Amino acid sequence: MSRLKGKATLITGGTSGIGLATARRFIEEGARVAITGTSAARLEEARATLGGDVLAITADAGDVAAQDGIAQQIGATFGKLDAVFLNAGIADLRPLADWTDAAFDRSIDVDLKGPYFLVKALVPLLSNSSSIVLSGSVNAHMGMAATHVYSLAKAGMISLARTLSGELIGRGIRANVISPGPIDTPLNDKLGLDPEASRARAKAVVGLVPAGRFGTAEEIANAVVFLASDECRFMVGSEMLIDGGMSIV
Ligand SMILES: NC(=O)c1ccc[n+]([C@@H]2O[C@H](COP(=O)([O-])OP(=O)(O)OC[C@H]3O[C@@H](n4cnc5c(N)ncnc54)[C@H](OP(=O)(O)O)[C@@H]3O)[C@@H](O)[C@H]2O)c1
Repeated sequence: MSRLKGKATLITGGTSGIGLATARRFIEEGARVAITGTSAARLEEARATLGGDVLAITADAGDVAAQDGIAQQIGATFGKLDAVFLNAGIADLRPLADWTDAAFDRSIDVDLKGPYFLVKALVPLLSNSSSIVLSGSVNAHMGMAATHVYSLAKAGMISLARTLSGELIGRGIRANVISPGPIDTPLNDKLGLDPEASRARAKAVVGLVPAGRFGTAEEIANAVVFLASDECRFMVGSEMLIDGGMSIV
């Protein structure tokens, strides 16, 4: 398998879930891979799992200044970039009454603003032709309670795939967004629920999915391989929705 052979790639949030599965698939397809995360220890663990010469970069996706540092390390190590998956994200879910100014800003910083400024920092390194894959969500298409700010950020990512493409396609840089439905990853354990509430939530969520289950991180990773590869060079500013039919059927 060599669909990404010779490509230099970056996956933000590559220590867990969808990002880690995508890093594994990118390596299998012949790519050189850099990953980011907030914890040096988790990055080291991911590097040990992935093997090879993965470049691990400690950087907070919510810190605009740190995004220039990611670009510098990519430039120094790879000299160019052919694909970036803007995957790092948090899901802070709470009812409207519980939102604070600071919590709102943190979600938007990590899930939307940081990724935007990372693209800005990476553009000089992006080759002709290259692929930007943004992480959206089925939630951007639904009115699910307590997802206000998360959904807002993900709707922003869907919009960004279009407007970034509009500005950058002349340079051979295309942007697309992948919008997963419920995926079985550690994200679901980070929602602040006790085990019983977590099980009840998972059951309720599955009830909303026509396919009758959570998706797997590998199912999303396979789609990101396609989006990062030259196979989808004619896909520009689009969204790939992989949600078991949740928002459509
Ligand atoms: N799982 C789902 O059902 C689902 C559905 C739709 C969309 N998504 C989206 O898919 C993406 C990946 O989610 P996942 O389910 O794979 O979650 P996950 O298992 O929790 O992984 C999240 C990744 O993002 C990193 N991360 C979190 N905050 C970060 C920050 N401030 N700076 C840098 N890295 C950060 C984490 O690294 P560290 O914690 O090590 O820093 C980790 O590598 C997210 O954008 C999420 O919104 C997920």
